Amino acid sequence: MKIKKALIPAAGLGTRVLPASKAVPKEMLNIVDKPAIQYIVEEAVAAGIEDILIITNRGKGVIEDHFDHAYELEHQLAGNPQKAKILAQVQAVSALANVFFLRQKETKGLGHAVLCGKHFMGDEPFAVLYGDDVILSEDPVISQLARVSEEFGCGVVGVQEVPRREVPKYCSLGIEPLRERVMRVTDIIEKPTDAQILSCFSILGRVILPPEIFSMLEEGVAKMPAGEEYYLTDALAELGRQGKLMAVDFLGKRYDMGNKLGIMQANCEVALKHPEIGADFRAYLLALAKTLEAKG
Ligand code: UTP
Repeated sequence: MKIKKALIPAAGLGTRVLPASKAVPKEMLNIVDKPAIQYIVEEAVAAGIEDILIITNRGKGVIEDHFDHAYELEHQLAGNPQKAKILAQVQAVSALANVFFLRQKETKGLGHAVLCGKHFMGDEPFAVLYGDDVILSEDPVISQLARVSEEFGCGVVGVQEVPRREVPKYCSLGIEPLRERVMRVTDIIEKPTDAQILSCFSILGRVILPPEIFSMLEEGVAKMPAGEEYYLTDALAELGRQGKLMAVDFLGKRYDMGNKLGIMQANCEVALKHPEIGADFRAYLLALAKTLEAKG
């Protein structure tokens, strides 16, 4: 079945990038000249997705503003012929897709945020693009996953190998390789200890889910002790144990906008390729690198 809908969870607290994320949602932190979440919506659109549900919470209204028209700004820009290009860029944002918003009223974890999309998604498989993971790729990662989901008729997680010392920060997948870049998932352990690591493949920000995930999430959330967050991984692990989950070792460069180093890497690498500032930024970086070498 073709994937036509996507959910972007963007209701987390962003504690790892405070104080930057105190009043500005981390999903709105910029990479050169666009907020992170715009890159994510653009990926979904490039994959042919028409309807996108963004899960927000209190204090994240600027995400809605970003995908809305900005009448006053557009009116001012329209009055200045020299600003025609930037006007087109501003207007293109609100025309990207049908973007819907829903509030997660309590921060109860990623599993709960996805459950908030139950009525929107209905009885169709859907894509989840984590709101703080920007992945740049010629072939959108969601398309790479959707092809496998359509072929096998089951859920799919986007994975890459991470250095072993980093696995405890993510999750670890038990896998059976099927063909190049495609594996069957047998189990998943969230934030494993070193002894629990099954493989260095971790889920990195992109997932396709079958609608049956919602009953698993409902059950999991109902059992969750008060004050704790419900991980999406718990329901994914259950799908894996039932033989209904595949993994794709995707092609693409991922930037973790939920941590400070990831934000700097994203900005540097995107700036280097940017048509307007790329050449100047490269010259600046080369000169800076020389001063760093000189200092040792
Ligand atoms: P993270 O766990 O990386 O986000 O969730 P976080 O909770 O904001 O991070 P820290 O640890 O406090 O820095 C991955 C994605 O899921 C969303 C986040 O906004 C992020 O885009 N999320 C997380 C929700 O939508 N709701 C939640 O309850 C938790």
